[in-house]
Amino acid sequence: MKKVLVAGGAGYIGSHTVVELLNAGYEPVVVDNLYNSSVVALDRVKQITGKDFKFYEADLLDREKVDEIFEAEHPEAVIMFAGYKAVGESVAKPLEYYYNNIGSLLIMCDAMRRHDCKNIIFSSSATVYGDPKEIPITENCPKGQITNPYGQTKGMIEQMLMDFNVSDSEWNVILLRYFNPIGAHESGLIGEDPKGLPNNLVPYIAQVAVGKRDCIHVYGNDYDTPDGTGVRDYIHVVDLAKGHVAALKKIEENPGVGIYNLGTGHGYSVLDVIHAYEKACGKELPYVIDPRRPGDIACCYCNPAKALNELGWTAEKNIEDMCRDSYHWQSANPDGYNDQKEVKMCLS
Ligand code: NAD
Ligand code: UFG
Repeated sequence: MKKVLVAGGAGYIGSHTVVELLNAGYEPVVVDNLYNSSVVALDRVKQITGKDFKFYEADLLDREKVDEIFEAEHPEAVIMFAGYKAVGESVAKPLEYYYNNIGSLLIMCDAMRRHDCKNIIFSSSATVYGDPKEIPITENCPKGQITNPYGQTKGMIEQMLMDFNVSDSEWNVILLRYFNPIGAHESGLIGEDPKGLPNNLVPYIAQVAVGKRDCIHVYGNDYDTPDGTGVRDYIHVVDLAKGHVAALKKIEENPGVGIYNLGTGHGYSVLDVIHAYEKACGKELPYVIDPRRPGDIACCYCNPAKALNELGWTAEKNIEDMCRDSYHWQSANPDGYNDQKEVKMCLS
């Protein structure tokens, strides 16, 4: 298997994955409508790897266009990163989130079936565990109560893909449940470039570190955790990207359905991350304690043993590497890719 369609491949995790696919000798074909990404990221991927690849600027909700791409490319597998991902926005705009995330997945799978490409790797999330019944979380932990439409799309798509395999065992489906991806490629050329106010902790810290924002807001210090702040399993985005290469190798064995946690297995609190980042940037970072953010849980980290046993994959980078590489990217690119293109949200 060589040719892989990477849907949403210009985005944060997608661009890092395209680097690892090229390094591993695959032939990625990127499809993205640049709603939340920049074509500059793809130029930088070429710069990092010294390799070229095809890019289609296309909306996955455009059925005819998706079909044309399959006709032209005949990919053997699809990695599906594309979708909207802001939890808070999904509560305000559930129709757009269901329409884009589920619509694009269904259009993709229909095209795949018609072109006899039934291998898919899907970007799922630890959010499907809700407030987890057990810590560390294994893949056997029951799915939990999901509190927002974004998370619902992940749970629903997981179920749909498993149903496709039940109806037709030629479907190979790998569901990768990401924990908290942070960091950037060590070159400092690609990284996370949130539009507007960052929703997630590390992009926010990064902007404080380079002086774009004044102060970090810590959402609650009264959780049942060692220092009272939320604990998460942060994983370096390059390790996560390599997890997709491992999943592609697995899919060549016709595994049917495989579900894997991709995390490090270590939990760090908000204050731990702030302090690790202070070390990385060599200065103190101001923070204030704010009330809890609605919908947040106290603690979430995984047991990553299944991915090691079945995919031969394990995270290699630690929290210091993550903060160092994040700061390298942010300080070299304080305004991100600085590409002004505006792509409208679906249905608008
Ligand atoms: P991202 O927004 O950087 O990448 C998603 C890409 O999909 C963007 O480039 C966007 O332009 C594209 N896209 C969206 N809708 C599209 C459409 N209709 N047609 C074509 N392209 C479209 O996000 P990311 O952080 O790289 O996340 C990738 C995937 O991983 C997402 O599905 C996300 O939900 C999932 N995930 C992310 C995290 C995280 O913390 N970053 C955690 C768990 C799961
Ligand atoms: N936090 C702050 N201040 C901030 C942002 C976050 O204190 O400005 C805290 C949160 O309360 C939480 C921790 O930092 O305790 C991590 O929050 P993030 O927003 O960075 O990440 P989440 O764990 O809430 O969610 C992320 C993704 C989801 C995904 C989930 C599990 O945003 O899409 O990881 O994969 F579902």
